[in-house]
Amino acid sequence: MATTTGITWNEGQPLEEDALRSLEARVESLLARMTLEEKIALVHGDSKFSTAPIPRLGIPRRWLTDGPHGVRQEVGPHTWTPAGRTDDFSTYMPVDVCLAATWNPGLAEEYGAVLGEEARARGKHVLLGPGVNVMRTPLNGRNFEYFGEDPHLASRMVVGYIRGVQSQQVAACVKHFAANNQEHERTTIDVRMDDRTLREIYLPAFKAAVQEAGVWTVMGAYNKFRGQYCCHNDFLLNAVLKREWGFEGLVVSDWAGAHDTDEAVRCGLDLEMGTEKPYPDYYLSTPFLEGIRSGKYPEELLDDKARRNLRVMIATGALDGREPGFLNTSDHQETARRVAEEGIVLLKNEGGLLPLDCAKTKSIAVIGQNAILKFAAGGDSAGVKAFYEVTALEGIVGRAGEKVNVCFSLGYAPDGGAELIERAVEAARQADVVILVAGLNHDKPYDTEGADRPDMKLPFGQDALIQKVVEANPRTIVANVSGAPVDMEAWFDRIPAVLQAWYAGMEGGAALARVLFGDVNPSGKLPCTFPRRLEDSPAHALDAYPGRDGVTVYEEGLFVGYRWFDAKEIAPRLPFGHGLSYTAFAYENLRLAEADGRVTVRFDLVNAGGREGAEVAQVYVEDVAPRLPRPLRELKAFQKVLLGPGERRTVTLDLEPEAFAFFDPEQNAWVAEPGEFRIHVGGSSRDLRLTESYRAQRGK
Ligand code: BGC
Repeated sequence: MATTTGITWNEGQPLEEDALRSLEARVESLLARMTLEEKIALVHGDSKFSTAPIPRLGIPRRWLTDGPHGVRQEVGPHTWTPAGRTDDFSTYMPVDVCLAATWNPGLAEEYGAVLGEEARARGKHVLLGPGVNVMRTPLNGRNFEYFGEDPHLASRMVVGYIRGVQSQQVAACVKHFAANNQEHERTTIDVRMDDRTLREIYLPAFKAAVQEAGVWTVMGAYNKFRGQYCCHNDFLLNAVLKREWGFEGLVVSDWAGAHDTDEAVRCGLDLEMGTEKPYPDYYLSTPFLEGIRSGKYPEELLDDKARRNLRVMIATGALDGREPGFLNTSDHQETARRVAEEGIVLLKNEGGLLPLDCAKTKSIAVIGQNAILKFAAGGDSAGVKAFYEVTALEGIVGRAGEKVNVCFSLGYAPDGGAELIERAVEAARQADVVILVAGLNHDKPYDTEGADRPDMKLPFGQDALIQKVVEANPRTIVANVSGAPVDMEAWFDRIPAVLQAWYAGMEGGAALARVLFGDVNPSGKLPCTFPRRLEDSPAHALDAYPGRDGVTVYEEGLFVGYRWFDAKEIAPRLPFGHGLSYTAFAYENLRLAEADGRVTVRFDLVNAGGREGAEVAQVYVEDVAPRLPRPLRELKAFQKVLLGPGERRTVTLDLEPEAFAFFDPEQNAWVAEPGEFRIHVGGSSRDLRLTESYRAQRGK
């Protein structure tokens, strides 16, 4: 657990008491020597991504950077135009929804450590990631940057990520706090939801970031929450984040997310960035200074903000310097590749078409623009200037090209004509196997910041292309590249093998090829439900997206993602937690043991096939007769287990009392009540193999 200051150190371990005292003592000593103007300099930007140095006190310029998947290229300093430098490349990691699909928190920690080390190499103190907004609608343009639809999965992954970043003496920044679940009207939309929904669905990953990972910085969201902008929201920032959760790091605005001096001063903002005004006119600059001078604002308000900034500056070595970091090492490349390999999800594999065998395959037609596109730079603030990026086509040629004749056909393009389809069909007809790399890209309005998708369809005529290709060659494999669910109804049943390939980073093409040819046994699981139709998903079924007259009300409440599909008994195209392997797993012998309210879940997992593989075993909790309406089942524990062929292992997972609790709005607290619960164990939210009952004796 984090210390009361929330500042952790060394591989995510809390600072020792002495070190803590000395950090706080140092903060106080610096603060005591600072003039008002110097303190003001700490709480607002002096370029797009920095705050001003204070040379008199040995405080250098502090640097922040995007983002979640790699250290962003340099811009500005006072514009968004790329600076045109040659020293601002970084490793491009798979996007965070792909990381979530690995269901491997240890790997998330390695991922974070890559980012942290590269941020240090680039002289950055704060890395503006991870983003943990819950996938409320498949259409959100930034779903690719987030961790899917489930608060428990997102929490586990994000804690690993943050520990990794901060182990490198770089501050992570968990964003966008809170309820930033759509890009449509993102800078003005006012989000309304009930307390339970907020606490049970939209806040847990942030809370875990603060209380378990000890994240040093939090970014306010662009939107309003209950009528007040999130970057200066008294309830979210002061009441919940700082008072209730004990957060003592700093709150940074999203870029141009601050709107008012009074609120910025009083409602929890500690660092204002990106405001579209000259720096001295920022809300927390001259207007704040003058307010203190005139007695409107007590100086303690500034001192609190300055303290929070100084803590993070000291913790990140901004004052003392740090060891140099490294960029693009072979370890970083390998981590990027492993995340991609573990994140790619095998959705379907009829007749064992996969893995492909080079010895038995003479020719492959690779079809689809996404086989040759590079994705690193796209998506806006999450974009990266990658050292390199292996495309899907390059990955396939690299893996199989010596033995197999690989040809490529574009198949579709945003401005493509029909003859593209005809040529692709011809290529498909002549090949033994087709690998069709389809999906979205980072152009507006697909997987990108600032816009939501208009619908869930594949663009550019891809449905027709896929149908014609599989007619020409039934041995067609579709790899879908997207950061969120797409509508697969037109073709899913007719395609024997389908993969969800995400935007899998600079090793993505190599990783895809290794999965296709069986060097890697797939182990990814979906972190979100794939609906059959957009109207099946909750916010759309209730016409509660994108809101009306500037307000969006989360009418589906707790019933987000699989919670809705289960409650309404709607069959999704692919359920949350789904993902296949080239081997098969059996679940046996579930037993529960209880001590002090903690339930220990034990079961045997068997690799019943002939190949080594990893299974993500998932534990869902069902409250049989809840006092308040609850989702039918909720994910409360999981573990990824690697088993050799024929191997059997007992898996042990603990369910703490919180796993049974719900948020009771009347008591304004989490409560676990006595009664019967069912514990389900299986390979997805709809593939539950074992169930046992548990009677909780008393509430907590
Ligand atoms: C995004 C943030 C990002 C910031 C700085 C904003 O537009 O919402 O996620 O960190 O820009 O680039």
